[in-house]
Amino acid sequence: MKDVFLILHFIGLAMGLGTSFANLFLGISLSKLPREEAVRISMHTIVLAKMGQIGLALLILSGVFLLIPEWDKLSHCALFLTKMALVVILTFLIMRISGHIQDAKMGEPGVHLAKIPVLGKLAFITSILIVIMAVLVFH
Ligand code: HEM
Repeated sequence: MKDVFLILHFIGLAMGLGTSFANLFLGISLSKLPREEAVRISMHTIVLAKMGQIGLALLILSGVFLLIPEWDKLSHCALFLTKMALVVILTFLIMRISGHIQDAKMGEPGVHLAKIPVLGKLAFITSILIVIMAVLVFH
């Protein structure tokens, strides 16, 4: 059963980190376009955020099941607790980004979408730090 949760954990990782990488590359090419066109295209690519949200949900769900048998050991592991703190920060950032996306769909997309890139970069850095922590803990 543990292998099933670990497989789900890695699928969640691919979806979550994949979204960050995709937005990073999209951001570079959109920055070269006139603002109106960039906003028009972004309103189509924001669907990627859904993949990120599902990826994070899969990571948290599978992570909890992976954690239960190891709790006694991991609950005293500073690196693992740091990973969990970073997961809380990542979840907060993803929720903020989702809020701006909802606002953009309601109106003034240019205003609300402009608040996302900095949060996206923070989420990317946080995800990379979580992966580093995870490998340091489990290998
Ligand atoms: C509540 C959230 C989470 C919990 C409780 C959790 C828990 C765990 C546990 C227990 C393992 C070890 C599995 C094993 O025994 O091999 C693990 C592995 C891993 N986790 Fe998480 N995780 C969570 C979220 C995340 C997130 C958000 C990421 C990435 C952004 C992540 C990345 C990884 C990676 C890369 C591994 C594999 C480490 C390795 O085998 O070297 N986890 N996680």
